[in-house]
Amino acid sequence: MAKAVYPGSFDPVHYGHLDVIKRAAKMFDELTVGVLDNNRKSPLFSVDERVKMLNELLKDIPNVKVESFGGLLVDYCASKDVQVVVRGLRAITDFDYELQNAQTNSLLSKGKLDTVFLTTSLDYSYLSSSAVKEIAYFDGDISICVPPVIEDMVKEKYCNMKGK
Ligand code: PNS
Repeated sequence: MAKAVYPGSFDPVHYGHLDVIKRAAKMFDELTVGVLDNNRKSPLFSVDERVKMLNELLKDIPNVKVESFGGLLVDYCASKDVQVVVRGLRAITDFDYELQNAQTNSLLSKGKLDTVFLTTSLDYSYLSSSAVKEIAYFDGDISICVPPVIEDMVKEKYCNMKGK
């Protein structure tokens, strides 16, 4: 059975992530979306909130499941007996960081863990979670970036933070 992990912070998940997940789900028998639980990144949403968001959006794709993970990605993949990591590549600016991570993971796993890259669809190549948060913080329109349920959650988060 071909298995893969698509790891990320997903803070919050946006249409670019969902596009990669849907395409990867067609390539593997089982795809696990691994949500990083790392407070050092000071996420806007708790890991439980991020897992819940993804579960809601992906509930109709039977071979995709959502989990949180902490620590090293190589250890998480080894614990699941997964040898393939999926990552999206938007632009050349992603390349250095992604290459470094892929090579580090290959080294740490003694060559057992490979990373495959899906180029992001042109429609979403500008999208990032940071941009979504920045636009929302300044009350801009994020409806072209995230599904309505996520839009509501992001707006609510900032309303609460700003005490509106
Ligand atoms: O969505 P992101 O923030 O770009 O995802 C980054 C992620 C989660 C893939 C990366 O930070 C990660 O794998 N973190 C776990 C720790 C680890 O294994 N780091 C790689 C070795 S340096």
